[in-house]
Amino acid sequence: ANGSSSLPAPLFKVNSANVQYTDEHILSKYSYFNTLVTKQTDGTLIATPTETTYEFKTERAVPRIGVMMVGWGGNNGSTLTASILAHKNKLTWRTKSGVHSPNYYGSVTQSSTVRLGVDTEGADVHVPLSQMLPLVNPTDMVIGGWDISGKNLAESMDRAKVLDYDLQRQVSDEMSKMVPLPSIYYPDFIAANQEDRADNLIPGDNKRAHVEQIRKDIRDFKAANGLDKVMVMWTANTERFAELIDGVNDTADNFLAAVEASHEEVAPSSIFALACIEEGAPFINGSPQNTFVPGLIQLAERHKAFIGGDDFKSGQTKMKSALVDFLVNAGIKPVAITSYNHLGNNDGKNLSSHRQFRSKEISKSTVVDDMVASNHLLYAKDEHPDHTVVIKYVPSVGDSKRALDEYECEIFMGGRQSISMYNICEDSLLASPLIIDLVIMTELMTRLEYKTAEMTKFSTFHSVLSILSYMLKAPMVTPGTPVVNALGRQRTAIENIFRAAVGLSANNEMGLEHKIW
Ligand code: NAI
Repeated sequence: ANGSSSLPAPLFKVNSANVQYTDEHILSKYSYFNTLVTKQTDGTLIATPTETTYEFKTERAVPRIGVMMVGWGGNNGSTLTASILAHKNKLTWRTKSGVHSPNYYGSVTQSSTVRLGVDTEGADVHVPLSQMLPLVNPTDMVIGGWDISGKNLAESMDRAKVLDYDLQRQVSDEMSKMVPLPSIYYPDFIAANQEDRADNLIPGDNKRAHVEQIRKDIRDFKAANGLDKVMVMWTANTERFAELIDGVNDTADNFLAAVEASHEEVAPSSIFALACIEEGAPFINGSPQNTFVPGLIQLAERHKAFIGGDDFKSGQTKMKSALVDFLVNAGIKPVAITSYNHLGNNDGKNLSSHRQFRSKEISKSTVVDDMVASNHLLYAKDEHPDHTVVIKYVPSVGDSKRALDEYECEIFMGGRQSISMYNICEDSLLASPLIIDLVIMTELMTRLEYKTAEMTKFSTFHSVLSILSYMLKAPMVTPGTPVVNALGRQRTAIENIFRAAVGLSANNEMGLEHKIW
């Protein structure tokens, strides 16, 4: 067989007996080292090194993929679409500061590197994260989606007021031909102030029929564009939380029955998620609401369908998950984290409604839990820093979100340290690269399989893609497993899983070769 001619040569190949490159796959055999800790009756701990052998298999051929965004006509949807077109068409645009060309800054897969190893002189060798494994190139993604607002994408981009006019001008023609598919609107779930844009709706109130329509939309989009795979991203307005009701959304079968009965607590986002699970299209939730009620998670597991969420981690929370990790690991004790936001885009308008704000507040609130729990020298059991999040809608600042944060810390000998931060930037220019990363890493997970010694065949990873945590404020994880919010740990997980797939040991920072005689 020689299917390899269509595959681009990888930037590097691993030279190891544990790694094999075939035309179709990269196969690796990997020793996973861990430490099992058990507590003795006298309170002391025993730490036992463990070693598990995994085999990984990565499909080398990169598919032609489509991304369907729910909320395509929003600020994120229109900004991402215009940016991809700018890349596709190799556009440049002028502002008062000069000529600009497209980049993927803010995308961890496209614009960050990892340390592959050291050269013979001992100097670090870095490669793009995007070259660690065969990954989709975002410029090749085909974009589509749904919106309750029927404006075409050129009008949406104009309404969003994010990108410079000279760029908008050049993509406008192409975007004016892109029109979102009609979507599902259950007014009780988003703010009442969104009603005047809801003019592009799938008719009727039969929720099962809505699921079938979304499934058909995905199939049609796939066929019309000759795609191998479609990923679906919720970047529509934040919904209120769905009430968790026994018998309605607690189990897979109850959830299906609730959809059949068009139960009022089934949210539009959950309808989209169900359609994707049944259609085998991965679904990622970029907003904070509890789209994935327990019954839906069970269904995803039953179908071995990929899901991920919740809530893009773009600005304030990303900073928090880096800064608190640093402080706590430095032995400094944050006692209060106070966060104010004001923004003037449609997201801010929707969040000015209490029930939708509440979803965001919940999603933003758990972000330091794991870091606090990791250090019992600073925090007693159940002790927690004060943590307050305020969001206000200020129309005149538009998409340029302002985030003011104060970190109040206890330091040496009763001293205090107050760190104050003021962040200003276009929200959608932070979120759009995250959508790219979520799509690209999710797609990879559809091609990456593992096998342990006990297994007879390869399997995909668990339905809940916790590897996406780096991009998400309230990361979903495999039920019953710990949530990691710390940004550094989240990135390390990505890097080391990528390394394992090509049979390279986890990166450690020992640098022993530089520390010995
Ligand atoms: P946006 O308000 O500009 O766009 C949302 C779009 O969703 C609108 O065009 C609206 O018409 C549409 N929509 C509402 N309900 C819908 C439904 N049921 N079906 C289809 N379309 C529907 O908001 P933006 O700024 O694009 O943000 C999108 C979401 O991403 C928000 O929920 C926001 O909280 C979340 N998010 C954004 C971040 C960022 O921009 N940095 C960071 C974290 C989360």
